[in-house]
Amino acid sequence: MKQLRSLTFALVLPVLAAFGQPNPSPKKSGSAATLAGAAPFPVGAALSPRYLHKNRAYTDVAIREFNSVTAENIMKPRGLSRGRGQYHWAAADSLVAFCRQHNKQLHGHALVWHESVPGWVKSFSGDSAAWEGILREHIRDVATYFRGKVRSWDVVNEAFSDTAGRMRNSPWRQHLGDDYVARCFRYAREADPAAKLFYNDYSLESDPAKLAAALRMVDDFKRRGIPLDGVGLQMHISINTPEAGIRKVMREMAGRGLLVHISELDVRINTTKDSLLTETPALLAQQAEKVRQVVRAFVEEVPPAQRFAITTWGVADSNSWVMNWRKQEDYPLLFDGNYRPKPAHAAFIEAVRGK
Ligand code: XIL
Repeated sequence: MKQLRSLTFALVLPVLAAFGQPNPSPKKSGSAATLAGAAPFPVGAALSPRYLHKNRAYTDVAIREFNSVTAENIMKPRGLSRGRGQYHWAAADSLVAFCRQHNKQLHGHALVWHESVPGWVKSFSGDSAAWEGILREHIRDVATYFRGKVRSWDVVNEAFSDTAGRMRNSPWRQHLGDDYVARCFRYAREADPAAKLFYNDYSLESDPAKLAAALRMVDDFKRRGIPLDGVGLQMHISINTPEAGIRKVMREMAGRGLLVHISELDVRINTTKDSLLTETPALLAQQAEKVRQVVRAFVEEVPPAQRFAITTWGVADSNSWVMNWRKQEDYPLLFDGNYRPKPAHAAFIEAVRGK
Protein backbone atom coordinates (compact mmCIF):
# COMPACT_ATOMS: atom_id res chain seq x y z
CA MET A 1 0.00 0.00 0.00
CA LYS A 2 2.77 2.36 1.05
CA GLN A 3 4.72 1.47 -2.07
CA LEU A 4 1.68 2.00 -4.19
CA ARG A 5 1.15 5.40 -2.66
CA SER A 6 4.74 6.51 -3.18
CA LEU A 7 4.59 5.20 -6.73
CA THR A 8 1.44 7.23 -7.32
CA PHE A 9 3.15 10.27 -5.89
CA ALA A 10 6.22 9.73 -8.02
CA LEU A 11 4.16 9.42 -11.17
CA VAL A 12 1.35 11.83 -10.56
CA LEU A 13 2.90 14.75 -8.75
CA PRO A 14 5.24 15.84 -11.55
CA VAL A 15 2.30 15.73 -13.96
CA LEU A 16 0.17 17.89 -11.67
CA ALA A 17 3.06 20.25 -11.11
CA ALA A 18 3.54 20.55 -14.84
CA PHE A 19 -0.01 21.82 -15.15
CA GLY A 20 0.66 24.24 -12.32
CA GLN A 21 -2.52 23.09 -10.58
CA PRO A 22 -1.61 20.61 -7.84
CA ASN A 23 -4.85 19.25 -6.51
CA PRO A 24 -4.81 19.23 -2.69
CA SER A 25 -7.38 16.45 -2.47
CA PRO A 26 -5.96 12.94 -2.62
CA LYS A 27 -6.59 10.62 -5.51
CA LYS A 28 -10.11 9.60 -6.31
CA SER A 29 -9.94 5.83 -6.43
CA GLY A 30 -9.16 2.94 -4.15
CA SER A 31 -9.54 2.62 -0.41
CA ALA A 32 -7.69 5.88 0.22
CA ALA A 33 -10.47 7.94 -1.38
CA THR A 34 -11.65 10.83 0.74
CA LEU A 35 -15.13 12.32 0.96
CA ALA A 36 -14.14 15.64 -0.58
CA GLY A 37 -11.83 13.99 -3.07
CA ALA A 38 -14.58 11.76 -4.39
CA ALA A 39 -17.55 14.13 -4.40
CA PRO A 40 -18.27 16.60 -7.21
CA PHE A 41 -19.69 19.00 -4.61
CA PRO A 42 -18.20 20.39 -1.38
CA VAL A 43 -18.20 18.10 1.65
CA GLY A 44 -18.00 19.76 5.03
CA ALA A 45 -17.67 19.11 8.73
CA ALA A 46 -18.71 21.17 11.72
CA LEU A 47 -15.49 21.94 13.60
CA SER A 48 -14.85 23.01 17.15
CA PRO A 49 -11.72 24.56 18.73
CA ARG A 50 -12.27 22.11 21.58
CA TYR A 51 -10.57 19.55 19.31
CA LEU A 52 -9.06 21.39 16.35
CA HIS A 53 -5.26 21.69 16.77
CA LYS A 54 -5.59 19.92 20.14
CA ASN A 55 -6.51 16.48 18.90
CA ARG A 56 -4.14 15.35 16.16
CA ALA A 57 -6.38 12.65 14.67
CA TYR A 58 -9.40 14.97 14.56
CA THR A 59 -7.37 17.69 12.89
CA ASP A 60 -5.84 15.29 10.36
CA VAL A 61 -9.23 13.93 9.34
CA ALA A 62 -10.67 17.45 9.11
CA ILE A 63 -7.84 18.51 6.82
CA ARG A 64 -7.82 15.37 4.70
CA GLU A 65 -11.49 14.49 4.23
CA PHE A 66 -13.36 17.78 3.97
CA ASN A 67 -13.15 20.91 1.84
CA SER A 68 -15.84 22.87 3.63
CA VAL A 69 -16.16 23.90 7.27
CA THR A 70 -18.99 25.07 9.50
CA ALA A 71 -18.24 26.52 12.94
CA GLU A 72 -19.97 24.15 15.35
CA ASN A 73 -20.50 26.84 18.02
CA ILE A 74 -18.09 29.76 17.92
CA MET A 75 -19.93 31.90 15.37
CA LYS A 76 -23.29 31.63 17.08
CA PRO A 77 -24.53 34.74 18.90
CA ARG A 78 -23.47 33.38 22.30
CA GLY A 79 -20.10 32.43 20.87
CA LEU A 80 -19.43 35.95 19.60
CA SER A 81 -21.41 38.46 21.62
CA ARG A 82 -20.14 39.68 25.00
CA GLY A 83 -22.45 42.67 25.37
CA ARG A 84 -23.97 45.28 23.14
CA GLY A 85 -21.37 46.12 20.49
CA GLN A 86 -18.78 43.88 22.20
CA TYR A 87 -17.53 40.82 20.41
CA HIS A 88 -15.12 37.99 20.95
CA TRP A 89 -13.62 37.32 17.53
CA ALA A 90 -10.46 35.39 18.36
CA ALA A 91 -11.81 31.83 18.17
CA ALA A 92 -13.58 32.48 14.89
CA ASP A 93 -10.50 34.28 13.54
CA SER A 94 -8.45 31.15 14.12
CA LEU A 95 -11.02 29.06 12.26
CA VAL A 96 -10.91 31.53 9.36
CA ALA A 97 -7.11 31.16 9.36
CA PHE A 98 -7.39 27.36 9.40
CA CYS A 99 -9.73 27.45 6.41
CA ARG A 100 -7.44 29.77 4.48
CA GLN A 101 -4.38 27.71 5.25
CA HIS A 102 -6.05 24.49 4.17
CA ASN A 103 -8.09 25.89 1.31
CA LYS A 104 -11.56 25.18 2.72
CA GLN A 105 -14.72 27.17 2.26
CA LEU A 106 -16.25 28.46 5.47
CA HIS A 107 -19.98 28.47 6.12
CA GLY A 108 -21.15 30.89 8.82
CA HIS A 109 -23.49 29.41 11.42
CA ALA A 110 -25.67 31.10 12.62
CA LEU A 111 -26.67 34.76 12.83
CA VAL A 112 -29.95 34.18 14.69
CA TRP A 113 -30.88 31.09 16.74
CA HIS A 114 -33.28 30.83 19.67
CA GLU A 115 -30.90 28.46 21.50
CA SER A 116 -28.10 30.99 21.33
CA VAL A 117 -29.51 34.21 22.71
CA PRO A 118 -26.78 36.03 24.70
CA GLY A 119 -27.49 36.67 28.38
CA TRP A 120 -27.49 40.43 27.93
CA VAL A 121 -30.14 40.10 25.21
CA LYS A 122 -32.32 37.91 27.41
CA SER A 123 -32.41 40.63 30.03
CA PHE A 124 -32.72 43.48 27.52
CA SER A 125 -35.73 45.68 27.99
CA GLY A 126 -37.06 48.01 25.37
CA ASP A 127 -39.89 48.48 22.94
CA SER A 128 -40.03 46.65 19.65
CA ALA A 129 -38.02 49.36 17.87
CA ALA A 130 -35.25 48.89 20.42
CA TRP A 131 -35.37 45.10 19.97
CA GLU A 132 -35.22 45.55 16.22
CA GLY A 133 -32.16 47.72 16.78
CA ILE A 134 -30.22 45.04 18.65
CA LEU A 135 -31.15 42.35 16.15
CA ARG A 136 -30.10 44.52 13.23
CA GLU A 137 -26.86 45.55 14.93
CA HIS A 138 -25.87 41.96 15.63
CA ILE A 139 -26.45 40.85 12.05
CA ARG A 140 -24.77 43.95 10.64
CA ASP A 141 -21.71 43.74 12.89
CA VAL A 142 -21.13 40.02 12.49
CA ALA A 143 -21.86 39.74 8.77
CA THR A 144 -19.69 42.82 8.12
CA TYR A 145 -16.81 41.43 10.18
CA PHE A 146 -16.81 38.15 8.27
CA ARG A 147 -17.31 39.68 4.83
CA GLY A 148 -14.86 38.03 2.46
CA LYS A 149 -14.07 35.39 5.11
CA VAL A 150 -17.22 33.29 4.89
CA ARG A 151 -18.89 32.19 1.72
CA SER A 152 -22.34 31.88 3.21
CA TRP A 153 -24.48 32.25 6.32
CA ASP A 154 -27.25 30.44 8.09
CA VAL A 155 -29.14 33.66 8.68
CA VAL A 156 -31.95 32.22 10.76
CA ASN A 157 -31.80 28.81 12.38
CA GLU A 158 -34.87 26.81 13.45
CA ALA A 159 -37.59 29.48 13.28
CA PHE A 160 -40.32 26.82 13.19
CA SER A 161 -41.44 24.81 16.19
CA ASP A 162 -42.27 21.12 16.29
CA THR A 163 -46.00 21.78 16.67
CA ALA A 164 -48.15 21.98 13.56
CA GLY A 165 -45.62 24.04 11.64
CA ARG A 166 -46.13 27.03 13.90
CA MET A 167 -43.41 29.59 14.33
CA ARG A 168 -41.26 29.08 17.36
CA ASN A 169 -41.99 31.63 20.03
CA SER A 170 -38.38 32.82 20.42
CA PRO A 171 -37.61 36.15 22.11
CA TRP A 172 -37.21 37.64 18.63
CA ARG A 173 -40.65 36.58 17.55
CA GLN A 174 -42.18 37.70 20.83
CA HIS A 175 -40.79 41.20 20.42
CA LEU A 176 -40.79 41.57 16.64
CA GLY A 177 -43.55 39.37 15.21
CA ASP A 178 -43.41 36.61 12.61
CA ASP A 179 -41.82 38.71 9.92
CA TYR A 180 -38.57 39.19 11.84
CA VAL A 181 -37.17 36.29 9.78
CA ALA A 182 -37.56 38.19 6.50
CA ARG A 183 -35.91 41.28 7.98
CA CYS A 184 -32.93 39.21 9.16
CA PHE A 185 -32.31 38.26 5.54
CA ARG A 186 -32.49 41.87 4.42
CA TYR A 187 -30.03 42.94 7.12
CA ALA A 188 -27.64 40.13 6.23
CA ARG A 189 -27.72 41.02 2.53
CA GLU A 190 -27.04 44.68 3.33
CA ALA A 191 -24.00 43.74 5.40
CA ASP A 192 -22.54 41.12 3.06
CA PRO A 193 -23.98 41.32 -0.45
CA ALA A 194 -21.79 38.47 -1.72
CA ALA A 195 -22.62 35.85 0.91
CA LYS A 196 -25.11 33.14 0.08
CA LEU A 197 -27.91 33.36 2.62
CA PHE A 198 -29.58 30.24 4.03
CA TYR A 199 -32.56 29.37 6.14
CA ASN A 200 -31.59 26.31 8.24
CA ASP A 201 -33.85 23.86 10.08
CA TYR A 202 -34.31 20.23 11.19
CA SER A 203 -37.00 17.58 10.72
CA LEU A 204 -38.14 18.98 7.38
CA GLU A 205 -37.70 15.43 6.06
CA SER A 206 -39.98 13.92 8.69
CA ASP A 207 -42.48 16.59 9.81
CA PRO A 208 -44.90 17.40 6.96
CA ALA A 209 -46.45 20.39 8.75
CA LYS A 210 -43.04 21.92 9.35
CA LEU A 211 -42.03 21.30 5.75
CA ALA A 212 -45.26 22.91 4.51
CA ALA A 213 -44.62 25.94 6.71
CA ALA A 214 -41.04 26.25 5.47
CA LEU A 215 -42.19 26.01 1.85
CA ARG A 216 -44.83 28.69 2.44
CA MET A 217 -42.09 30.91 3.83
CA VAL A 218 -39.83 30.27 0.86
CA ASP A 219 -42.63 31.04 -1.61
CA ASP A 220 -43.58 34.16 0.31
CA PHE A 221 -39.94 35.34 0.36
CA LYS A 222 -39.63 34.77 -3.37
CA ARG A 223 -42.78 36.79 -4.04
CA ARG A 224 -41.57 39.65 -1.88
CA GLY A 225 -37.98 39.63 -3.09
CA ILE A 226 -36.52 38.68 0.30
CA PRO A 227 -32.89 37.68 -0.34
CA LEU A 228 -32.93 33.95 0.40
CA ASP A 229 -30.41 31.90 -1.61
CA GLY A 230 -30.66 28.49 -0.07
CA VAL A 231 -31.96 26.12 2.52
CA GLY A 232 -30.00 24.15 5.07
CA LEU A 233 -31.51 20.77 5.81
CA GLN A 234 -29.85 19.77 9.06
CA MET A 235 -30.62 16.07 8.54
CA HIS A 236 -30.13 14.87 12.10
CA ILE A 237 -31.73 11.56 11.28
CA SER A 238 -31.68 7.93 12.35
CA ILE A 239 -31.49 4.62 10.55
CA ASN A 240 -35.31 4.57 10.67
CA THR A 241 -35.93 7.91 8.93
CA PRO A 242 -37.97 7.14 5.79
CA GLU A 243 -36.20 7.74 2.50
CA ALA A 244 -39.32 9.21 0.88
CA GLY A 245 -39.29 12.27 3.16
CA ILE A 246 -35.56 12.79 2.60
CA ARG A 247 -36.15 12.87 -1.16
CA LYS A 248 -39.27 14.99 -0.92
CA VAL A 249 -37.70 17.90 0.95
CA MET A 250 -34.73 17.99 -1.44
CA ARG A 251 -37.05 17.87 -4.47
CA GLU A 252 -39.33 20.61 -3.12
CA MET A 253 -36.49 22.96 -2.24
CA ALA A 254 -34.52 22.32 -5.42
CA GLY A 255 -37.72 22.86 -7.43
CA ARG A 256 -37.90 26.35 -5.98
CA GLY A 257 -34.46 27.16 -7.36
CA LEU A 258 -32.73 27.23 -3.98
CA LEU A 259 -29.24 26.07 -3.15
CA VAL A 260 -29.52 22.95 -1.01
CA HIS A 261 -27.12 22.34 1.90
CA ILE A 262 -27.36 19.10 3.83
CA SER A 263 -26.02 21.12 6.68
CA GLU A 264 -25.66 18.95 9.80
CA LEU A 265 -25.80 15.33 8.72
CA ASP A 266 -25.62 12.56 11.27
CA VAL A 267 -27.42 9.22 11.42
CA ARG A 268 -28.24 7.80 14.84
CA ILE A 269 -28.23 4.04 15.27
CA ASN A 270 -29.54 3.96 18.85
CA THR A 271 -33.24 4.14 18.06
CA THR A 272 -34.33 2.60 21.37
CA LYS A 273 -32.20 4.87 23.60
CA ASP A 274 -30.45 1.79 24.94
CA SER A 275 -27.71 2.92 27.32
CA LEU A 276 -25.69 -0.25 26.64
CA LEU A 277 -25.87 -0.08 22.86
CA THR A 278 -22.71 -0.94 20.93
CA GLU A 279 -21.90 -0.41 17.28
CA THR A 280 -22.70 -3.79 15.78
CA PRO A 281 -21.84 -4.49 12.13
CA ALA A 282 -25.56 -4.82 11.38
CA LEU A 283 -26.35 -1.37 12.75
CA LEU A 284 -23.36 0.18 10.99
CA ALA A 285 -24.55 -1.38 7.75
CA GLN A 286 -28.01 0.17 8.22
CA GLN A 287 -26.37 3.50 8.92
CA ALA A 288 -24.29 3.20 5.76
CA GLU A 289 -27.46 2.47 3.81
CA LYS A 290 -29.13 5.59 5.19
CA VAL A 291 -26.11 7.74 4.31
CA ARG A 292 -26.18 6.22 0.82
CA GLN A 293 -29.86 7.21 0.52
CA VAL A 294 -29.14 10.79 1.58
CA VAL A 295 -26.25 11.20 -0.84
CA ARG A 296 -28.15 9.54 -3.69
CA ALA A 297 -31.16 11.76 -3.08
CA PHE A 298 -28.88 14.82 -3.10
CA VAL A 299 -27.33 13.80 -6.41
CA GLU A 300 -30.59 12.76 -8.03
CA GLU A 301 -32.96 15.44 -6.74
CA VAL A 302 -30.72 18.52 -6.69
CA PRO A 303 -29.31 19.85 -9.98
CA PRO A 304 -25.50 20.25 -9.89
CA ALA A 305 -25.54 24.06 -9.75
CA GLN A 306 -27.80 23.97 -6.67
CA ARG A 307 -25.72 21.44 -4.69
CA PHE A 308 -24.17 23.70 -2.08
CA ALA A 309 -22.58 20.99 0.10
CA ILE A 310 -23.13 18.04 2.37
CA THR A 311 -21.80 18.76 5.86
CA THR A 312 -21.55 16.26 8.70
CA TRP A 313 -22.14 17.60 12.20
CA GLY A 314 -18.73 16.84 13.63
CA VAL A 315 -15.86 14.63 12.56
CA ALA A 316 -15.90 11.38 14.54
CA ASP A 317 -18.32 9.53 16.79
CA SER A 318 -16.27 10.36 19.87
CA ASN A 319 -16.98 14.08 19.54
CA SER A 320 -20.50 14.16 18.17
CA TRP A 321 -22.99 16.48 19.85
CA VAL A 322 -25.46 13.59 20.13
CA MET A 323 -23.74 12.16 23.21
CA ASN A 324 -23.18 15.48 24.98
CA TRP A 325 -26.27 17.44 24.11
CA ARG A 326 -28.85 14.76 23.61
CA LYS A 327 -27.34 12.62 26.39
CA GLN A 328 -27.62 9.50 24.34
CA GLU A 329 -25.16 6.75 23.57
CA ASP A 330 -24.70 6.74 19.82
CA TYR A 331 -22.34 6.47 16.88
CA PRO A 332 -23.81 8.89 14.33
CA LEU A 333 -20.89 10.02 12.12
CA LEU A 334 -18.73 8.69 9.28
CA PHE A 335 -15.57 8.13 11.38
CA ASP A 336 -15.41 5.97 14.49
CA GLY A 337 -14.00 6.79 17.92
CA ASN A 338 -10.52 6.07 16.59
CA TYR A 339 -11.01 8.33 13.56
CA ARG A 340 -11.19 5.38 11.19
CA PRO A 341 -13.66 5.54 8.29
CA LYS A 342 -16.83 3.55 8.94
CA PRO A 343 -19.03 1.69 6.45
CA ALA A 344 -21.01 4.94 6.09
CA HIS A 345 -17.86 6.61 4.72
CA ALA A 346 -17.54 4.00 1.99
CA ALA A 347 -21.27 4.26 1.26
CA PHE A 348 -20.99 8.04 0.86
CA ILE A 349 -18.20 7.63 -1.69
CA GLU A 350 -20.00 4.86 -3.54
CA ALA A 351 -23.14 6.99 -3.74
CA VAL A 352 -21.35 9.99 -5.24
CA ARG A 353 -19.97 7.59 -7.82
CA GLY A 354 -23.47 6.47 -8.67
CA LYS A 355 -23.36 3.15 -6.82
C1 XIL B 1 -25.02 22.06 18.76
C2 XIL B 1 -23.55 21.81 19.00
O1 XIL B 1 -23.13 20.71 18.24
C3 XIL B 1 -23.29 21.58 20.47
O2 XIL B 1 -21.88 21.49 20.72
C4 XIL B 1 -23.88 22.71 21.29
O3 XIL B 1 -23.74 22.42 22.64
C5 XIL B 1 -25.34 22.93 20.95
O4 XIL B 1 -25.49 23.13 19.56
N1 XIL B 1 -28.83 22.28 15.39
C6 XIL B 1 -27.94 23.29 15.10
C7 XIL B 1 -26.61 23.28 15.71
O5 XIL B 1 -28.23 24.15 14.25
O6 XIL B 1 -26.12 24.58 15.94
C8 XIL B 1 -26.57 22.49 16.99
O7 XIL B 1 -25.22 22.40 17.41
C9 XIL B 1 -27.17 21.12 16.77
C10 XIL B 1 -28.62 21.25 16.35
